[in-house]
Amino acid sequence: MRKIFDAYQFVGKCSTLYDRMMTNDGLAARLVMKFFWGLDAQSYEKFLTQAFAGIPRDFSGRLLEIPVGTGVLSLPFYCGLNNAEIFCVDLSDKMLDAAKLRAAQLNLRNVQFIRGDVTNLPFDDEFFDAVLSIDGFHAFRDKAIAFAETRRVLKSGGVFCGSMYIKGENRRTDLFVDNFCRPRGFFSPPYETLNSLQKKLRELYTHAEVTHVKSFAGFICTK
Ligand SMILES: C[S@@+](CC[C@H](N)C(=O)[O-])C[C@H]1O[C@@H](n2cnc3c(N)ncnc32)[C@H](O)[C@@H]1O
Repeated sequence: MRKIFDAYQFVGKCSTLYDRMMTNDGLAARLVMKFFWGLDAQSYEKFLTQAFAGIPRDFSGRLLEIPVGTGVLSLPFYCGLNNAEIFCVDLSDKMLDAAKLRAAQLNLRNVQFIRGDVTNLPFDDEFFDAVLSIDGFHAFRDKAIAFAETRRVLKSGGVFCGSMYIKGENRRTDLFVDNFCRPRGFFSPPYETLNSLQKKLRELYTHAEVTHVKSFAGFICTK
């Protein structure tokens, strides 16, 4: 856990670079995205659409985002969610600092930031109408507890959605994950495959839809 925490504390301090990679912004980011993740500009857009597909543009109610990271993908999306009460959680206070700064720049008033661990969420059972998790589960160490906790805080009929890395879809991505991301603490095995993720989510939820763009699965589940 310490390694994961330290890795993202470091990323939080270099958040400008991280943000450019995450948003596919600039030539270096586009080359990395294409070479290691197999995503060109068009498939990157599909990945983004897939990641947010479970949250309607007119969503109202309580939304948990775990982990928010620097909020580079999600906070701009929240600008349109005026009737939502949004709680953003992350383990790393440095990532959260970057997210808080962005929220202030975007003048977001309905978003709270909480430092916390996905394995011990500081919320009552069935507190949320939706739980969004973008690129978190491949980083979490205790995945079974993370699946259980995100389900616990979700209301019956609520939506669990987002994206995560899945192995077995692109050999170069898998090598990059194993040889670069995992040793540095950015990713934490074991990873889901498309089939194992579908199976797991269908066991946990009444309805689960899983799609993928290269090595990124998108999921929308109803409790
Ligand atoms: C790849 S980043 C994704 C963040 C964000 N969703 C984004 O799109 O930028 C993974 C995040 O998971 C967070 N994280 C790792 N383990 C965690 C845990 N046990 N509980 C909460 N957050 C965790 C890290 O601090 C990091 O910000």
